[in-house]
Amino acid sequence: MNAPVIVSGSPVTPAFDVAAVREQFPILKREINGKPLVYLDSAASAQKPRAVIDAMIHSMEHSYSNVHRGLHTLANETTDAFEKARESVARFIHAENREAIVFTKGATEAINLVAASIGLTLNAGDEIVVSEMEHHANLVPWHFLRERKGVVLRFVPVTDEGALDLDAYRALLGPKTRVVALTHMSNVTGSITDVRAVVEAAHAAGAIVLLDGAQAVVHRPIDVQALGCDFYVFSGHKLYGPTGIGVLYGKPERLASLAPYQGGGEMIGVVSQDLITYADPPHRFEAGTPPILEAIGLGAAIDWLETLDREAVEAHEQALYDRAVAGLEGVDWLRMLGTAPGKGAILAFTVEGAHAHDVAQILDRYGVAVRAGTHCAEPLMRRFGVSSSARASFALYNTLEEADAFVDALLKAKSFFS
Ligand code: ALA
Repeated sequence: MNAPVIVSGSPVTPAFDVAAVREQFPILKREINGKPLVYLDSAASAQKPRAVIDAMIHSMEHSYSNVHRGLHTLANETTDAFEKARESVARFIHAENREAIVFTKGATEAINLVAASIGLTLNAGDEIVVSEMEHHANLVPWHFLRERKGVVLRFVPVTDEGALDLDAYRALLGPKTRVVALTHMSNVTGSITDVRAVVEAAHAAGAIVLLDGAQAVVHRPIDVQALGCDFYVFSGHKLYGPTGIGVLYGKPERLASLAPYQGGGEMIGVVSQDLITYADPPHRFEAGTPPILEAIGLGAAIDWLETLDREAVEAHEQALYDRAVAGLEGVDWLRMLGTAPGKGAILAFTVEGAHAHDVAQILDRYGVAVRAGTHCAEPLMRRFGVSSSARASFALYNTLEEADAFVDALLKAKSFFS
């Protein structure tokens, strides 16, 4: 499994021991419909390593309380674990400090927070630049501002290969552009945008930049300071952590000037009958009891990921993708959505004469789990002229044999539609 193999010219590095990694994911031993599970739906939600499961169980069994409120030992221990998780996140994405990290319940909530708070400062006619390949999480909150404040949404087109058209993006920027909100890596095509160039152009136009890193953070090292973005968001559950936890990174000066989103306990300075003041970031944005166990789980996921050679992980994932693509070469009834150079290991496709839902259901008979539908990216489906697609997304725990099993199952599935 780990012998060096040449696939489409890219060597599979022996530095990455996929068998050892798989051992750490208990669920991968499951069978589905009498076949070994081949889990190719990690872009929707990734499986969890033992380190994450154990960290959450340990907290519940030995050291659990509410955070930032108590003076007893358990409260202090849990608060320490919670804040240590924040430190892990800050380190992982090279944030200035841990106060630049706001815990949310997911990437979606993080974008809603920024949109709602920045929305208070926008006026009719102000422009927000998004793209045709955004996930609905990075469209609907801005649509709210279109409906409620009269701001104008400008959509950057996507090329036939599924990449952001950077020239068209630059041409859309102007004196009315207030916000640029773009995905770093498409959840459908896997294409990766040169977000450094995006940020430079946006800042030159005086606009704030939010990057949706829900997919990119899983597959590429992220340095938010080097990117220069104002906000970067992602979820825990795609990063091998639990559901119910996400991250809003904000440049310290941006967070400092952002109005609170939700009101409640622990986000205030003073509350009286006619006065309210707010806590400093990040607590200003964390009203109520936060997702404590989930934050601890996310911290464990990040600490675990940092034990791996991430370059080797990237090469491994790329080899999986290349293997599947090579196996499908010459298949004329399959259309791949997204072929941009440098894209990540996500393979979205349509099968001639078959609905994506049917493809996914038949693959499931062979134990192969893929997603099917619009992938919460309806404008991109329209751009490609399809109503839906199937999607195989590769993760660090997948093997070359699984990439082959996916191809075999797909070739067999086609006979159901002929
Ligand atoms: N955003 C997730 C996906 O792409 C749910 O599947």
